[in-house]
Amino acid sequence: MVVKKTGKMLFRLLPIGLMALLLSGCGIPELSALQPRGEGAEIQLEIIKLSLWVMLFVLAIVTVIYVYVLMKFRRKKGDNEVPKQVEGSHTLEMIWTVIPILLLVVLAVPTIKATVELADAKEAKKNEVINVTANLYWWEFDYPDKGVTTGQELVIPVGKKVALNLTSKDVIHSFWVPVLSGKTDNNPGLENEMWLHAKEAGTYYGKCAELCGPSHALMDFKVIALEQADYDKWLEDMKAAKEAETKQLDAKNEKNWSKGEQVYAQNCLSCHGGGKVAPSLTNFGDRGNLAGYLKHDKKNLEDWIRDPQKLKQGTKMPGFNESQISDEDLSELADYLLDKKIQ
Ligand code: CUA
Repeated sequence: MVVKKTGKMLFRLLPIGLMALLLSGCGIPELSALQPRGEGAEIQLEIIKLSLWVMLFVLAIVTVIYVYVLMKFRRKKGDNEVPKQVEGSHTLEMIWTVIPILLLVVLAVPTIKATVELADAKEAKKNEVINVTANLYWWEFDYPDKGVTTGQELVIPVGKKVALNLTSKDVIHSFWVPVLSGKTDNNPGLENEMWLHAKEAGTYYGKCAELCGPSHALMDFKVIALEQADYDKWLEDMKAAKEAETKQLDAKNEKNWSKGEQVYAQNCLSCHGGGKVAPSLTNFGDRGNLAGYLKHDKKNLEDWIRDPQKLKQGTKMPGFNESQISDEDLSELADYLLDKKIQ
């Protein structure tokens, strides 16, 4: 009998065990709010911890009372009377009203303080202002004071707060880099401010955190934090690369163009050139991922150009078939694009 009961209980616990096993695989270090790498995420983790302690405190007290009542008022052998019915207790009602209010105050004060602190980008604006525009399904990062625009990868200096102005070209998206800070919405026609801070150099993963369409889950980006000197150099190199690209393509001296460059100018430039309609490709070869989530290699790039819808449903980029770009030209174009590096 006991064995049967124990077996039944274990069977019931099985799904929980399996779930725990499954979920323990979750949590990439570059994508975990529980492993903060910047000031914003640290502030938020403190609040997460505080609310966990509050909840554990409530859970412990409720469990103790529950177990005590279960044992004390358990029906004894031969006890067939209906227990005395009690209704209403001012003291108890006061206690279970006042305690939750106090707990909410304990949670609310640091939460409101942090909310104000995280939204205040005044100090950060002195360091760097970056415009973040969300699009279906890619991110544009524009450094207005520096004349630099990037797609899919946000480069920031280490150890400094940088200010972000967030907006959207189409629907509501949400900017989220879990290890650096919380989510802030990108709303069309509006600007939201926040700041970002990274403690050490590295690459951190970002996600769109607002359901925005069929490829919402693929709307990934990266934040690359560089030491100040490397950051300054990156800005300079980006600017130079962009200027060189513009000069080269404006020269109209097509004889100097490589085959890949020709195909690029004819087919890609009208959208990708300014980096406003489609992601800037100035440093495309440096990117960690293709389309935000694919391995950055020639095979994927060619597949992407042929049929982007297959890899990112709902993307605005049109595909190019063999009559538009031949296999040979596509290969040249892919080589040219993968070679567009500044690092
Ligand atoms: Cu953009 Cu979800």
